[in-house]
Formats: sequence, C-alpha cells, structure tokens
Amino acid sequence: MTRTVATKPYDDQKPGTSGLRKKVPVFQQENYVENFIQSVFDSLDGFQGQTLVIGGDGRYFNREVIQIALRMAAANGFGKVMVGQGGILSTPAASNIIRKYQAFGGLVLSASHNPGGPHEDFGIKYNASNGGPAPEKLTDRIYARTKVIDSYRIAEFADVNIDKVGTFEAGGMTIEVIDPVADYAALMESLFDFAAIRAMFAGGFTMAFDAMHAVTGPYAVEILEKRLGAAKGTVRNFVPLPDFGGHHPDPNLVHAKDLYDLMMSGKAPDFGAASDGDGDRNLIIGRGIFVTPSDSLAMLAANAHYAPGYAEGLKGIARSMPTSGAADRVAQKLGIGMYETPTGWKFFGNLLDAGMATICGEESAGTGSDHVREKDGLWAVLLWLNILAARKEPVKAIVEKHWAEFGRNYYSRHDYEGVETERANALISGLRAQLTSLPAKSFVGLTVENADDFSYLDPVDHSTSSNQGIRVLFEGGSRVVFRLSGTGTSGATLRVYIERYEPDAAKHGIETQEALADLIAAAEEIAGIKAATGMDVPTVIT
Ligand code: G6P
Ligand code: ZN
Repeated sequence: MTRTVATKPYDDQKPGTSGLRKKVPVFQQENYVENFIQSVFDSLDGFQGQTLVIGGDGRYFNREVIQIALRMAAANGFGKVMVGQGGILSTPAASNIIRKYQAFGGLVLSASHNPGGPHEDFGIKYNASNGGPAPEKLTDRIYARTKVIDSYRIAEFADVNIDKVGTFEAGGMTIEVIDPVADYAALMESLFDFAAIRAMFAGGFTMAFDAMHAVTGPYAVEILEKRLGAAKGTVRNFVPLPDFGGHHPDPNLVHAKDLYDLMMSGKAPDFGAASDGDGDRNLIIGRGIFVTPSDSLAMLAANAHYAPGYAEGLKGIARSMPTSGAADRVAQKLGIGMYETPTGWKFFGNLLDAGMATICGEESAGTGSDHVREKDGLWAVLLWLNILAARKEPVKAIVEKHWAEFGRNYYSRHDYEGVETERANALISGLRAQLTSLPAKSFVGLTVENADDFSYLDPVDHSTSSNQGIRVLFEGGSRVVFRLSGTGTSGATLRVYIERYEPDAAKHGIETQEALADLIAAAEEIAGIKAATGMDVPTVIT
C-alpha cells in the first residue's frame, strides 16, 4: 500500500557545503524529513527500478530516518535499497558501495564531525551515481523543490529489521542489509601493501587510533587490528554511540586532545590518528609532531608511489582554495596538474571523474583519492602507514625532510564561532568593498600584492562558483583568507586562514602562531575581526 500525503513546504531546507544539516528537533518537525527526501527524489530522473544506497554514521535519529527513507524509496519506485547493517555506513564506504554496485545514488545520513544526540545535529546528503555529493545544480534543484512541495509518497509497511544481514522484500521493493565493512576493507586491501604494513606491526610498530565513538570503530578494528595485526587496543573508543559519548567527533587538536597529549608524551606510540563522525576526515600525528592537513596532503602526494594503488604516479592534485600551497610545490616537482577549487568535496568530483586529479585534500582534515568520490579518513591513515612501512623512517623525519626539500608553509586557521549572522555578513561585505583599494597598502609592515573574492571556473563542466572567500595576498607569497563556514547549524562561523611560506630550512622550527604573528595582526587590521565579532580571541585555532 502506498499513500500520497499532503504537506506544506519549509523554507529552510537549503543544502549547505555537505547536504542538509540541522538540529535534531528541526528534523523532528512534522514531515520535515519526508519533505526533504521527497524533494530529493523529485529532483532526480530515471531511478525507477534502480538501486538506492542508505546508511549513516549511527548518530541519534539515524534509525528513524532510515525507516522513513526505506518506505519512501519503495513508494517512489526504487527497485532496491542496500542499507548498512545497523544503519551504519561510513561516508567513504557509502561512496564505494554506490560505485561498486552501480547504484543510482545514495542517502548518507550524517552531520559529519558535529555532535550528536536529541538536541544536537543531524544531516541528510544525497550522493549521485559516481558516489560523490550532489553537484550544486542538483542541490539548487532540490532546494527549489523544497519550497513548493505539497505532497510526498510513502509505502506502508512495518519497521524492517536492519540489524541482520540478508535480503527481503517490502512494499514491492528489495531490501538488502549489507555488512558495512567488508567491501570497504577489500578496497583498502587492493590499494595498499598490507603485507608490508603487517610486517611493520609484527616488528613492534605501535599506533593509537581514536574512533571517537563514531562510525570508523568497526572499520578500524577490522582493518588495523584484524587484517594488519596491530595490537589489540590500538583502536580506541571503537563502539559507535548515538551521542558519540557526549563528545564532538571532530578529529582536531581541541576535540582529540587526549590523542594529541599522548602523542606528545613520553609514552607516545609511533603513530597516532583519528577520524570523525562519518569517517571521512583524518587527523595525523607522529611521535612528537602534528602534521597539518595541508602538509599531510603534500606529503601523501609526494610519497603516494610507495603504495601499489598509486605506483604508476598521480594524474594531478587538487586542493580547496583555503588549503595551503604546500601541495602545489609537489605537483610542480612531479610535473602534474594542480587544481584549486572552492571549499567542499563536491568540487573535486568532476576532476576525479575526468581523470585530471588522483589525490585531493582540504585544510579541514579531508584527504582522499579517485578510489571513491568522498574524502576518506582511514584511507589517509593507511596511506601514511604504507609510506612509513616502505620508508622505514619515523613521521617526524619524513615531515622535516619534506620541508627541507620543498620549504615549509606555516599554516593556521582561526575560527570565530557563533557570530551573529548579520555581523558576519557585514564583515565579509566590508572586505569585499575594500578589495580594489587594498593592493599596495601596507599592514604591520606587510604589503598587499593582490586581493580578490575567489571565483572558480570548473574546467570540466565550465560552471562558475563565485564569492568563495576573500583572499588577501601579500608580497613574498604569504596570504590571509576570510570566509564564512557553510556547514554550521546555528549562527555564523568566520574562518580566517593564515599562511606563510618559508623556504629556509634553518627557520622551520618556529612555533606556528609565532611564525604567523605579523599576518594575524594584519588580518585584524584589515578586517576588524574583534569589533565585528565581539570576540578578542578565536574560539578554535587549528
Ligand atoms: C565538510 C565538507 C568539506 C569542507 C568542510 C568545511 O567537511 O565536506 O568539503 O571543507 O566541511 O566546510 P566549511 O564550509 O565549514 O568551512
Ligand atoms: Zn565528516
């Protein structure tokens, strides 16, 4: 039995950088979930009889939304849904399942690294048949649809048991509950030298992986401990919990502080890593040294050939605009293409599909390759492990040699969270108004060479994305970038990205904030951050 239910539109269902993200009580409003899912389906063509993949990071409300999505997929004419056991699929694993089984697309239920629980965040994202997040033209269509939707279709069947692997029929549709880990682990095994990594662990190499009570727990236990032989206990906080144990499942130096402290202590294992709520981000820390995501991208690209999956070399590298230019120097040396995209993994999709880039990365702790169409936390960890196994050197030595060869891009991001939306918008428009007058002006002894509002022309589909962040470039190659986050769920977050290039190896040991102090002061002079935000210091420094 299928019902068509009358509904009224909501005016706030605009997908952001990564799908629709709101607080759980917002999603719990009458028909809120149904409206959005129906708007997604109404924006797609040709899925009758096709397969839809559904899975999430296990956060609060995941199971309820999966039951709704199953009934709506059946009523709208999908032939089959593949759903992860227990409702679990990490974001990269979902991307892999869509590609491997040639599904029409997928619904990924997650709010990534944001906290979970009855009053915390939830999210719904649609991924297309290439396994990647819906491109902007599709999310625009979905948003337009949410504003006029007047009914949705839903099948009537009882809640299905998603906790047992198996295949059954419901509402005229096939539902296959799949092992969420098996296909992903097989993919990783096809890319990396598991034998070499296994030998490294057998030789006494030690590691700590913090799954942050989020989705990567089961993946990391299977791959690191079972297949690669890392000691039991290597994976910490490995049970996914609906509220992530009350923490932010965000692998940065603030929320993964325990791991950071361990890695800086006398008891540090050889390698430390963590991933976020849905498994697409990564944090890499060597004994006594944190590797920034921008540096990690550059170092992974420079050493990728040690892994069998990348032995033939890279086609190109892509990074988001605010990510440091460290990877650019690697691309230059390798003689391959370098692409600078707006923030948001979706912008890499076309470059990967067109075979123009192999490895991509963002300052926001995302790194990945053309093996899927999402960033991939465990993939980055495994590539690091493969490189460590091949080079037989500690992380610190690899990092320092890289800087000595390519120079160091000192880099930091200052976030001002919870800024009133109007004040944040005013700060950005104030900067925009100054753009033409900034060049040749000096701030704290630094002279502006150029200033612009980043605009991206996609070389594949020739679409343009404008207003992607204010860039102030100084003479000598330093820069400050200002943009507002597209992933927040309340108020605005101002992000200020600060970068300085230092070619001289004798000057590679300076503390980061100190190395950037004059740029930080210049950013304040140019943007008037303190006055606009009412904050004296950033809420988060990464
Ligand atoms: C998500 C996206 C990334 C993006 C990050 C930060 O993780 O998948 O592509 O870089 O959010 O985005 P924001 O707009 O908050 O800076
Ligand atoms: Zn994530």
